[in-house]
Amino acid sequence: MSQLTIMVNGIKVCGNRHEPLLTQLENAGIKPEYQCRNGMCGACRCKLISGAVTQQDALAFIGPNEILSCCSIPQQDININFDYQLNINHQSAKTKIAL
Ligand code: FES
Repeated sequence: MSQLTIMVNGIKVCGNRHEPLLTQLENAGIKPEYQCRNGMCGACRCKLISGAVTQQDALAFIGPNEILSCCSIPQQDININFDYQLNINHQSAKTKIAL
């Protein structure tokens, strides 16, 4: 299982190529906003600054260079940004935040 790096709001997290981005961030103790988790609401949208993801079909509106973290799977190292301050719970992190 190959690993990759997710930069999210300047925080480096270890990621993978098989789980949705939202799930990976949550496992790292980072808590982006979400509601439906299936591409309907748009609450989990973030800006893709660099890298590439595979995104499942979704109904929520997204702007240019935006992705839905609940239904996007990273394909390479990515850099993303949520336009609000993220809650981070280091205690519940299942995967390590990279140093
Ligand atoms: S949580 Fe609703 S679109 Fe991602």
